[in-house]
Amino acid sequence: MKVVIDCDDAAIELKKTIVAHLENNGIDAVDLDYLGSHPGAYYPEIGYNLARKIQDGAYQRGILICGTGLGMAMIANKVKGVYAGVCHDVFSAERLRKSNNAQILTMGARVIGPELAKTIVSAWLVSEFQGGGSQPKVDQMHALERQSFESQ
Ligand code: RB5
Repeated sequence: MKVVIDCDDAAIELKKTIVAHLENNGIDAVDLDYLGSHPGAYYPEIGYNLARKIQDGAYQRGILICGTGLGMAMIANKVKGVYAGVCHDVFSAERLRKSNNAQILTMGARVIGPELAKTIVSAWLVSEFQGGGSQPKVDQMHALERQSFESQ
């Protein structure tokens, strides 16, 4: 599995830690390093850049890290067909996949430390959408999203 990752200026060290963690676990981590080519970029364009790559199918799973995880989740969720959630605990990280079928995990480098972040990423990686009772809820979210985009 390939996981695409990026961060803003608040999370450079945590991103390095997570990239190393993914690679140590045999996961191919693709670091977009948007800041490297766009110095001074803010979280919205960094998150948008990664979310578009999920939208066009280049990658199936992504991780976005900023100071709180909030801004990255907000911008990723503005991209049609892309779903992101901020997780600072293991249970939520599992449910983000199992219940919500979100492709993007976001975290805040100013909220949690590297060890918890690694554990969250590991739990998220091994979790898959379970369907069942969650399917009609996710379907409803997709239908409302289509309605919202089409009414603009
Ligand atoms: C810092 O730019 C901070 O605003 C950002 O990293 C993030 O926490 C926004 O949600």
